Amino acid sequence: MLDGRVVVISGVGPGLGRGLALRCAKAGADVVLAARTEERLEEVAKEVRALGRRATAVPTDIRDRASCERLVRAALDAHGRVDGLVNNAFAIPPLQDLLDVDLAAVRKGFETNVLAALDLTRLFVPALVEARGSVVMVNSAVLRHSRPTFGAYKMAKAALLALARGLSTELGPRGVRVNTIAPGWIWADNLKWYFDHLAKERGVPSRQIYEETAATIDLRKLPEPDEIADAAVFLLSSYARAITGQCLDVNGGEFHH
Ligand SMILES: NC(=O)c1ccc[n+]([C@@H]2O[C@H](COP(=O)([O-])OP(=O)(O)OC[C@H]3O[C@@H](n4cnc5c(N)ncnc54)[C@H](OP(=O)(O)O)[C@@H]3O)[C@@H](O)[C@H]2O)c1
Repeated sequence: MLDGRVVVISGVGPGLGRGLALRCAKAGADVVLAARTEERLEEVAKEVRALGRRATAVPTDIRDRASCERLVRAALDAHGRVDGLVNNAFAIPPLQDLLDVDLAAVRKGFETNVLAALDLTRLFVPALVEARGSVVMVNSAVLRHSRPTFGAYKMAKAALLALARGLSTELGPRGVRVNTIAPGWIWADNLKWYFDHLAKERGVPSRQIYEETAATIDLRKLPEPDEIADAAVFLLSSYARAITGQCLDVNGGEFHH
């Protein structure tokens, strides 16, 4: 689905970021991996190369313009083109009620989750226009609920959705599509650790926490990083060539939208 394409992924961490890199490579893309932790980028790059694709690891802080400019240069120097950009990097603001949360921390969350995604996308626009490429923003099922303590995160992700839609309108006439995926639970290391922690607190097996959570999801399982990444692969591919400005919820049916 992505044969011969080059995809840049911001925020390559152990969860969805890694999954995105590997599934894009499986689909035939060469990938450019960006995050701050170089060792992790190198580990994922090795996994990508083992799949027979090229990987370029570029330590990047998306809040720093010079660092983003280096990323764009490194991507173009190594691959000569960029067909896809996945804005996956995120920073969770404090999980506190809106009535209590520190505004400076909310602002800081906006810097990474919204403004840095905009700035990075702007820098890739010339290459994306040339390739008639596409952008995928990684959002969250927090869009679909308003649970206590998630307010600041929801504000940032709601702004990211608005950003994706605005960019779709601005870039569509230039041949670039901009879409969003909204994962719910992601069954990766962080969540496994958290469920173990909850299980210990309640004195029940971890499996029970998993099953109680899965019972709230139509498909009765928590989506894994690869399953979510495949939705991004679809949106980056020409199978989605008439789709822009949309948000695809990838949550196993936990919320219907
Ligand atoms: N985890 C969940 O349950 C969940 C649920 C719904 C949606 N999501 C969304 O899915 C996406 C991925 O989440 P994930 O938990 O699976 O994380 P992940 O892909 O494992 O890692 C994300 C990575 O982003 C990087 N990052 C943070 N700030 C950055 C910055 N300033 N510059 C460059 N990179 C930066 C961090 O790496 P460095 O520290 O090395 O920079 C982090 O490891 C996020 O957009 C999140 O909102 C997650």
